Amino acid sequence: MLSQTLITLSLLSLAAAQAPAWGQCGGIGWTGPTTCASGSSCVKSNDYYSQCIPGSNGGGTTTTAQATATTTGGTSVKTGWEEVIGEGSFNSFSSFWNYLYPWGPDHNGSARMKQDKVSVSGGVLTIRADRLSSQDGYSTANPKPAIWYWSGAVHAKSTVVVNDQFPNWEIRGEFKAPTTKGTWPAFWLTGTQSWPPEIDILEFKGNTENWFNTFRSSSDVSTTKANVGNAASTWHQYRIWATKANSKDVTVHFYVDGDWKGQHNAAGFVGKPMWIIINLQMEGSSGSPGPSGSTTYQAQKIYVGRTRAS
Ligand SMILES: *[C@@H]1O[C@H](CO)[C@@H](O)[C@H](O)[C@H]1NC(C)=O
Repeated sequence: MLSQTLITLSLLSLAAAQAPAWGQCGGIGWTGPTTCASGSSCVKSNDYYSQCIPGSNGGGTTTTAQATATTTGGTSVKTGWEEVIGEGSFNSFSSFWNYLYPWGPDHNGSARMKQDKVSVSGGVLTIRADRLSSQDGYSTANPKPAIWYWSGAVHAKSTVVVNDQFPNWEIRGEFKAPTTKGTWPAFWLTGTQSWPPEIDILEFKGNTENWFNTFRSSSDVSTTKANVGNAASTWHQYRIWATKANSKDVTVHFYVDGDWKGQHNAAGFVGKPMWIIINLQMEGSSGSPGPSGSTTYQAQKIYVGRTRAS
């Protein structure tokens, strides 16, 4: 951990304190670089977020400036940044999190979720998946695979919705995520009232590539893949910035360890509330057979914040 920190610090100083294209370059609370690599310029998105946009005049294709109105009809209203889930939430687990998926113990892989596969210690959430010696029936959720593992899932008590009142959201966390065949960890958002919306912030399917996905429908999906070295053994931060682009659409930016990896048009996501879920599914899209022994997936420093415009 210490050597990782030192490496990170030395890489930062080698970077000559310039943010790369699409990197963050300012905002309240930002302590990183405030100038951009040549070819891009720092464009303010809102008081809390500025980003290096390629193009001599800032391009202007990505972010929409969000005014932080201070009055409505002459009445002062509270505006600005607010924290929804702080980095220490696992230390007060029951205030912020529930066990299982919002809909119960089963989903799209061969693991059935159990509360006792989830533990918390020192601010770190650990989910353990164990192979069963005999099959535990079938998942009740499509595509109803045979259950061969007991594992764990948690979901946040609060939900995410990008709308006029909350036009910007930052959602992030640090994870040690398994990458072996048949392990299918995720940190993702899915609609509480409909599907889609779905945004996958972390999803590994049996190798070291993270899949950032935005599902506009089952056949209309944006995917950005990012290779993550030592994803299983080293903490890495996975993050999104979701910003209201117009009355219907949300623009989602994806980051690993602070590096911008891509952006998706989450068309039609405005006003659609989403659950925040952390789970260790098994097999399914990650291949089978999965591991015969135990698999662990860890999370820490989950953070959810938003701007309040009114
Ligand atoms: C299965 O669930 C994962 C989250 O564990 C999600 O990212 C993915 O989109 C789902 N895939 C299908 C095909 O249902």
